[in-house]
Formats: sequence, C-alpha cells, structure tokens
Amino acid sequence: QKVCLAYSGGLDTSCILRYLLDEGYEAIAFMADVGQEEDFEAAKEKALKIGASKCYIEDVRKEFVEELCFPAIACNAIYENTYLLGTSLARPVIARAQIAVAQKEGCFAVSHGCTGKGNDQVRFELAFYALQPSIKVIAPWRDPVFYNRFKGRNDLLDYAAEKGIPVSSTKSKPWSMDENLAHCSYEAGILEDPNITPPEDMWKLTADPTKAPDAPEDFTIHFQKGLPVKLEYDGGKKSVTEPVELFLTANAIARKHGVGRIDIVENRFIGLKSRGCYETPGLTMLRAAHVDIEGLVLDREVRALRDQFTTFHYAKILYNGLYFSPEREFLEDSITSSQKTVNGSVRCRAYKGMFSVIGRWSDTEKLYDESESSMDEIGDFAPQDTTGFISVNAIRLKKFGNKKEEEGQS
Ligand code: ARG
Ligand code: SIN
Repeated sequence: QKVCLAYSGGLDTSCILRYLLDEGYEAIAFMADVGQEEDFEAAKEKALKIGASKCYIEDVRKEFVEELCFPAIACNAIYENTYLLGTSLARPVIARAQIAVAQKEGCFAVSHGCTGKGNDQVRFELAFYALQPSIKVIAPWRDPVFYNRFKGRNDLLDYAAEKGIPVSSTKSKPWSMDENLAHCSYEAGILEDPNITPPEDMWKLTADPTKAPDAPEDFTIHFQKGLPVKLEYDGGKKSVTEPVELFLTANAIARKHGVGRIDIVENRFIGLKSRGCYETPGLTMLRAAHVDIEGLVLDREVRALRDQFTTFHYAKILYNGLYFSPEREFLEDSITSSQKTVNGSVRCRAYKGMFSVIGRWSDTEKLYDESESSMDEIGDFAPQDTTGFISVNAIRLKKFGNKKEEEGQS
C-alpha cells in the first residue's frame, strides 16, 4: 500500500516517513518548491536514505504567483486587517501537486506533518478531499498511537537515533517557520508569550528597518486589469514583466529596505488564538500599490461592493482552506469583472521599513478628470446644483436635529 507524504527534510516528517515504513506502507516523498530557501537535493537524498521509494520535487512557483498571489492582490485580500495570507495562499498549489503525484503513483493515501491545533491540517485535507474525494489521509499528529509515543522533540530525537535517521547539526530555532515566495511566518516556541518581542535575528527575509539604507528607492508598478504586469526600477533602467521575476524583484527591493514585517495575534479557523510574526516583503508593496491605483481608476460603487464581498470573504475562504470550493470560483469571477478598468501605474518608494506611493497615472482610464475635480476651475460643473443636492440630503438630518432639540428642552 503506497502513501504519498509531504516531506520537508526536518525532524518531524523524517520520523513520520520512517514510522509509515514501520507500519508496513510503501512511502513516496513529496516536496513542493514554492520559493522557500531549501536544499532540495539534500532533503531528497535524506528521504531516500530513510527509505522512501521515490522522492518528487515539484516546482509550483509560477502557479503560486499567477493563480494565488495575483488574485489576492487584485482584491486587496487581507485577514483580520493585518495578515496577507502568505501560508494560506501556498497551500492550494502544494495540495494540488501532492494529489497529482499520489495519483500518478497509485497511492491510496496522502500524509502530512501538520499539528492537530493548526490551520494547515484543515487547508491541506479540505483541498485533498475536493481534488480527489476517494483519497485517504494519514495525519500522525492526530493519531493517539503516534502522539502518545512521540510527546516532544526528545522522543523524536531518540527515535531518529534508534532508526539511524540523520539529524541536521544546526540547532533548531525556538519557533516554527513556514517560508515561500510570498512570506515567512514565525509561530510557536518562545513566541507563544504574545508580549515577548521577537529577537532581531529571527527575521530572515527583511533588513532591520533601522539599519536599512539611508537613501530611499523609487520604482514603478504597472497594472493591467488589476494585475501587476511590469515593474520598473533602478531609475527606470531595468524592468521585469514575467510574473515570478516581477514578484522576486519586488521581494528584493522590499527586503533590502525592511518593508513588510508584522507581529499579530490572529484567530485560527478551529477557534484558537495564535500569535504570529510575518514578513511579507513584495506582496505588501504590490497590494498597497494596487489599493492605490484603484483610487484613481475604479468606480466608487464597484469598489464598495467588492470591499464588502470580496476583500473580506476571499481572505476568509483562503484562510479557512476553502480554495477548492464553489464560493471561491464565484468570487474569483467577480474579482476579474471588478478589475476591468484597473489599468494604470503607481510610482512607489521604499525607505526604512516604509512603503509609500509618490504618484500615479493611467493612460487609458478617464474616471478622474483633473479640471472637473479642480478647485480652481468651474468647467462643466454648475455650482448651484449642489444647493439642491445638499437640501435633499438634509431632509432626514433636519428631522433628527429637531428631535435632539426637543429632547434637550424636556
Ligand atoms: N498562522 C498562519 C496561517 O495560518 C501561518 C501558519 C504557518 N504554518 C506552519 N506550518 N508553520 O496561515
Ligand atoms: C501547524 O499546526 O502544523 C502549523 C500552524 C498552523 O497550521 O496554523
């Protein structure tokens, strides 16, 4: 019986791999390249040494950027006003690639090393079931036989020693991380006290904003139908258009200037609160630039409806692991439709942890008209019309004011 295990090369999934073999399964290791810094070849070698019969490394960076990060930018997705969903966005492409490997190899089950208290188990498994309803899932950290045997890191280390599983000599960090092209997350361990300030050397992607370069860096992001299509930088001398390259370039600029760090307490889907620190360099800037260009070119009411139904719900759907669902397909159609006019360019600045917009324009969209909006010109506008507009809007408010007056007298 074959099982496809999402393998990371770390202690947990190495022990799980060996445990699956002990239980009599044949194991296929699976790794997804979502842009994390990783020695994939070393991890593959380790998986094969432990006893996996094969190890797949699937590069899903392009679909991650195009199918997940870009729609999130196009609807300004944000969870609980702060979290840009870096981990949530990567899960659908990882799960899809894992199911494809499981199908190719004829596996009856897939397995993962997510804990029983988190969001990731829900995201992976809901995706697995939507993509292949007949699949079985082996989640060792929810199996009493497994978690009663391995109560902590020491039990895993003992097991690794007993089974000859190589353990990396680098001391494990006192928190858990999840990295991809969009972000790096830090949770658990010493961060569980929400009032402990993370040590400066925790942050691995971005420069310490206080030590970032003294000179600001300016660049321009061009949008077509709400998607970033070009990034011009280095004084306009360089530009990138390919989505992954564009994303990596935005990351490089933001990382250098320390843009995109947050430290929050969030509500997990299962109802627990969790403290997390995140650095989301490029996505923070791309999203903020997108918010800005909408100001110039997006109709007021389309924007208001989209904010109500999409920004909030799309984020919640992604966070809760409901990517492969009818509601996500429905919202994505509405995102596309809302973005028809979102064509234009934003001039941006990164400086000591800050991202700011320093100008914007559109060659094609004419919703904003300088002379119409000008305080120095009358144009086609008839100022006397506004008198009626104000009177009509005041009908209700005068009644409200009268009532307040009466109440004040009694
Ligand atoms: N709390 C974040 C989220 O739910 C980050 C999860 C990080 N996952 C991990 N396996 N370390 O999206
Ligand atoms: C985990 O529990 O495996 C990581 C954290 C999360 O999924 O929320």
